Amino acid sequence: MLNVAVVGSGPAGLYAAEALVKQAAALPEPVRVRVDVLDRLPTPYGLVRYGVAPDHKSIKSIAQYLRKVLESPDVRFVGGVLLGENVTRDELLAAYDAVIYATGAMRDRRLGIPGEDLPGSYAATDFVNWYCGHPDSDSAAFTLDAESVAVIGVGNVAVDVARILARDPAELHATDVPQPVLDALHASKVREVHVIGRRGPAHAKFTTKELRELGELDGVEVVVHPDEVDLSAFDQVGEGTALAESDRRVRGNLVTIASWAQPAHTGGAARRLTLRFWLRPAEILGTEHVSGLVLERTVIDAAGRFGGTGSYETLPVQMVLRSVGYQSVPLPGVPFDERASVVPNAAGRVLGPEGQPLPGEYVAGWLKRGPTGVIGTNKSDAAETVRSLLEDLAGLAAGPGEGGTLLPRPGLLRYPDPVAEATAGGVAAAMGADAAAGAEAAEWPLASVLAGRGVTPVSYDEWLCIEAAEAELAKALGRGERVKLAGRDAIWAACRRPEAF
Ligand SMILES: Cc1cc2nc3c(=O)[nH]c(=O)nc-3n(C[C@H](O)[C@H](O)[C@H](O)COP(=O)(O)OP(=O)(O)OC[C@H]3O[C@@H](n4cnc5c(N)ncnc54)[C@H](O)[C@@H]3O)c2cc1C
Ligand SMILES: NC(=O)c1ccc[n+]([C@@H]2O[C@H](COP(=O)([O-])OP(=O)(O)OC[C@H]3O[C@@H](n4cnc5c(N)ncnc54)[C@H](OP(=O)(O)O)[C@@H]3O)[C@@H](O)[C@H]2O)c1
Repeated sequence: MLNVAVVGSGPAGLYAAEALVKQAAALPEPVRVRVDVLDRLPTPYGLVRYGVAPDHKSIKSIAQYLRKVLESPDVRFVGGVLLGENVTRDELLAAYDAVIYATGAMRDRRLGIPGEDLPGSYAATDFVNWYCGHPDSDSAAFTLDAESVAVIGVGNVAVDVARILARDPAELHATDVPQPVLDALHASKVREVHVIGRRGPAHAKFTTKELRELGELDGVEVVVHPDEVDLSAFDQVGEGTALAESDRRVRGNLVTIASWAQPAHTGGAARRLTLRFWLRPAEILGTEHVSGLVLERTVIDAAGRFGGTGSYETLPVQMVLRSVGYQSVPLPGVPFDERASVVPNAAGRVLGPEGQPLPGEYVAGWLKRGPTGVIGTNKSDAAETVRSLLEDLAGLAAGPGEGGTLLPRPGLLRYPDPVAEATAGGVAAAMGADAAAGAEAAEWPLASVLAGRGVTPVSYDEWLCIEAAEAELAKALGRGERVKLAGRDAIWAACRRPEAF
């Protein structure tokens, strides 16, 4: 029996749990695995639940696949447990044979320009958390009094937030958007959304399918400045042309963008969405609140250098959403590469300060490779990490190393700590188990640690209670399959817990 803790129940964590069970069973000498999937939230699925836009229902349905992983008899959901506060890295390493960190990348990147912290200037992460009903977000956080909004960045998250701002909120009724958020979207005064790329349309990171959707929104006119679509206007070395030649996605984007630069757009729609290129943010204006955004025209010069031209324009906007990418945060005690904002690793094996693999520690997902790629990318990524882990296990099974020492040896799994196992055996309370269920708790190595801190984790059944409450709320409101509960109190009440987390 191999006991593994996976920290983070997003796609990377759950694909890792699935791969562990499957790959270990398929070994020439099959190994039984028990996986505890920890998450700081009482709800699983990470960004599938709190990132993927509510109007992207088919993508959200990946949760149905991930659900099967959590329902596997060898996998247990341990919600409401924050690594670094409720449990330490050392405690996890003492309690499990191996730990896989998969905590994603939840922090926004900064622009580093004046006015960035003015009221009315927000990270896209805050806006996404709000419309996705993240427990960290207050459902009253956004009132959308602005008539004109600037979204900085031209990746898929920028497209998501621009679409949610521009879309007729009636089209969100059947989604899981919390009711106070839907009410705020109905009351929104937003009429104009500018999406701003610091480089050209060929350099934009969004994907064509997501981009096209902007042109399909009812009552929304999409506008592009014809000179900014001209691939040679601001690019003297033809970088954009080369990108278009080599990348099908870029070609698809350019065709779509060019179609919006036609003079046929005459206005009259309820909302307007303008895509701008070759403009970088220089300053957010305002004294008590955002009142404008200063943009500097950029170019790629004849030497192939990208930079500003010293020519500026000011957009009169009352709200700015900074959608310039995500960043991972360090986990206390776990190595972290501050420059790349990832856990240093080789094929998922966590590397120590000398570049040596640390026994029993692995990493997967955005924390491993940075905040890029779609949900499916995390499946192959997690499978690679699990392959490394099982290769290390095979190495361990091959026998003692030099001098007869079994542990710790770089790159090999730890043996379970007998002391931690013995103490775990005495505690039956932590998973809500009574004395009769002591046998199960005895198998559970984290029990004593969490009980000692007064932490009662959220079980899978309690999560199902939250889901059921969401379905009940949707029914009561006459909306779709589920409506997310607004706020932590409602979530705790749904899983029969009065206390806050
Ligand atoms: C706004 C947004 C929209 C997206 N939309 C799409 C889309 O439509 N389609 C698509 O294919 N991809 C989409 N993506 C990308 C996709 O969501 C990511 O590829 C994927 O979620 C990354 O998986 P992960 O498991 O590494 O991280 P996450 O999904 O972020 O999961 C990390 C988990 O770790 C938990 N955690 C964090 N810190 C701790 C801690 N200290 N202790 C315990 N638990 C912790 C978190 O609560 C979370 O549940 C989107 C990304 C964003 C940001
Ligand atoms: N529907 C979907 O499939 C979906 C939805 C959402 C997210 N995702 C995925 O999630 C990942 C993260 O998406 P993302 O949109 O957050 O990141 P992203 O794709 O990396 O895009 C970030 C954007 O911010 C710009 N930027 C960075 N720093 C800037 C600065 N200082 N000033 C101005 N602009 C700046 C970048 O421009 P430069 O290129 O010039 O640096 C880029 O346009 C991506 O892989 C994405 O595909 C997928």
